[in-house]
Amino acid sequence: MAKLLANQILLIIFLIVASQQWQHAQSQTHTWQEAFKALGIAWNRDGTLNRTIQIPMVDPTPYEDSATPSPTVLSQDIQLSSKSKATVRLYVPANPPKNKTLPLVVYLHGGDFVLFSASTVIFHNFCNDIAEFFPAVVVSVEYRLAPENKLPAAFDDALNAIFWVQNQAKGVGGRDPWMEFADFSRVFILGSSAGANIAYHVALRALDFDLRPLQIKGLLMNQAYFGGVQRTQSEINLKDDPYVALYVNDVLWSLALPLNFNRDHEFCNPISGGTYLGRVYRLPKVYIKGDYGDPLVDRSILLGKFLQSCKVPVYYRFNTGGFHGIELQNKSAAQQLYNDMRSVSGFFFFGLSFVLGVHD
Ligand SMILES: *[C@@H]1O[C@H](CO)[C@@H](O)[C@H](O)[C@H]1NC(C)=O
Ligand SMILES: *[C@@H]1O[C@H](CO)[C@@H](O)[C@H](O)[C@H]1NC(C)=O
Ligand SMILES: *[C@@H]1O[C@H](CO)[C@@H](O)[C@H](O)[C@H]1NC(C)=O
Repeated sequence: MAKLLANQILLIIFLIVASQQWQHAQSQTHTWQEAFKALGIAWNRDGTLNRTIQIPMVDPTPYEDSATPSPTVLSQDIQLSSKSKATVRLYVPANPPKNKTLPLVVYLHGGDFVLFSASTVIFHNFCNDIAEFFPAVVVSVEYRLAPENKLPAAFDDALNAIFWVQNQAKGVGGRDPWMEFADFSRVFILGSSAGANIAYHVALRALDFDLRPLQIKGLLMNQAYFGGVQRTQSEINLKDDPYVALYVNDVLWSLALPLNFNRDHEFCNPISGGTYLGRVYRLPKVYIKGDYGDPLVDRSILLGKFLQSCKVPVYYRFNTGGFHGIELQNKSAAQQLYNDMRSVSGFFFFGLSFVLGVHD
């Protein structure tokens, strides 16, 4: 409890610092230098970034010890192959249900493609919650960040993690004992913010492979971070939002996208065309969560409408108010998200059928 509180205080400090820097910056015309300052990042000559505003990272909890007595969820970092540095953080409930396997959730954390890690405390805690309340086996992907590794590096890493899960299912090279708890016929891909974009792209790319015995049963997108050249109404109305100021968002996209790609490339604007569109109709069911207080909400609404027009089963919730990342600060918003995901992943759907409308 004390640890949770400390984490929340750190997150709030981070947000206050970021928001003060933003308030300072928004009184002028914005330059990319201001965006860098707001994000706490600086360029090095070799093209790498220094990331100075850091949310703490935490170690996994592989077993009970005096530092973590009676954990409800266990976690460990796993190197995917001896030949690469790619890792995932794997989570299982400490007391999984008896005689029953659990859905397997592949999770992609947020951070604008540029920041954070699977071990960042807010995402680590989120995965602990998913493992406990879903309940599920969670594979949180440690994907490469931009601009050192521009898109599609993060999509490649997510796909690679899915291949690793497939090999675990087949027992290729042995199976991690925790994977015995997983039901490989009930796999869900989940992402928040930029992680939701990665989840979307990897779900589409996965359609091109024989993933047996894995069955991807759903794609869960929480406050996706899509964009485009033309501003949407919600982006215009909320352009100075403290959580997703659009001038900062513009700079982040220029860091993430390959050179010469504009924001109508499908990596950013998934309904603008491109090679993935033809596969959309083969997607499993999709859950989309958005908040009308988030400048990016219209992008999720447009994607939801597009997927529905392609006859993809779409379940969605768009809450009034709220903001980008609300579930990381507001317990009841987090609980609502977990409940939605649990019902979408099961056989029953509770009231997730609001009429899609564009924010005015
Ligand atoms: C980045 O960090 C390194 C190591 O702390 C430091 O030497 C370097 O000057 C920093 N770069 C910038 C652009 O601040
Ligand atoms: C689990 O299954 C075994 C045999 O299949 C049975 O003997 C045992 O009672 C079951 N346990 C629970 C908690 O259902
Ligand atoms: C938390 O979010 C819920 C909606 O999910 C909202 O009703 C409530 O007012 C929020 N609480 C705070 C303290 O912001």
